[in-house]
Amino acid sequence: GLVSAKEMLDKAKAGHYAVGQFNINNLEWTKSILLTAEELKAPVILGVSEGAAKYMTGFTTVSAMVKAMVDALNITVPVALHLDHGSYEGAKAALDAGFSSIMFDGSHYGIEENIEKTKEIVALCHEKGVSVEAEVGSIGGEEDGVVGKGEVADPQECKMIADLGVDFLAAGIGNIHGKYPENWEGLDFEALDAIQKETGTLPLVLHGGTGIPADMIKKAITLGVSKINVNTECQLYFQEATRKYIEAGKDLEGKGFDPRKLLAPGAEAIKTCVKEKMELFGCIGKA
Ligand code: G3H
Ligand code: ZN
Repeated sequence: GLVSAKEMLDKAKAGHYAVGQFNINNLEWTKSILLTAEELKAPVILGVSEGAAKYMTGFTTVSAMVKAMVDALNITVPVALHLDHGSYEGAKAALDAGFSSIMFDGSHYGIEENIEKTKEIVALCHEKGVSVEAEVGSIGGEEDGVVGKGEVADPQECKMIADLGVDFLAAGIGNIHGKYPENWEGLDFEALDAIQKETGTLPLVLHGGTGIPADMIKKAITLGVSKINVNTECQLYFQEATRKYIEAGKDLEGKGFDPRKLLAPGAEAIKTCVKEKMELFGCIGKA
């Protein structure tokens, strides 16, 4: 079955490593991530954006597929099914559909409204033992239609949101969704340090995990980051492997057009991506 992400992230924070959140889009993505987590004995979080949920025909379908697959593959490591950048309505719908973890992203509201709505979502989720992630400041760039300005979070506002009883907190620290621009200034470690001082043992979340240099990832973990979200990088790996297969004409040979063959190199590439990230995050063997 699925678990809340609270326990795995509290353990990660205390143990100075991070758990990966990998976003899913379909059956292949889900299977590749689950098999890799099991093989490496790593706890894992499957992220689902509202756009991806819609693509997969809704939260109920996603929840049913993930639960069935965890059972069918005999997955023994902790798996959380987490709504990524949820709206107020989306958070409630994903909770009803059986997600075990919810991000309510109220970062585009003013802090008062963010507090009010986050508080309500926390009450609803905790009643069901479901963990909650909130966001302060914003992540730059765009992910599945969620656009952020990239404002660095105010540590005092982080404390206000942390005090609502959220289980982990995403704070904008100069991180960006998608590929990083050439002139990116890097993560704001001063802000991260100040945020951790205000929020204590609360696990912090680093969004935009694609393309952040390894040394910055490691430093962020030393400053309290316990969950790192990766989405675009798996897509890039999938795309590259699929392109190679087609450009080599493999889809034209024998039964190479069979979708189970055509999608196999991409599915393997996702495993490689997840493994590399888990090595970097230090969560291997922590299940
Ligand atoms: O919410 C998901 C992540 O923050 C993913 O960001 O696509 O840049 O890896 P990314
Ligand atoms: Zn994100």
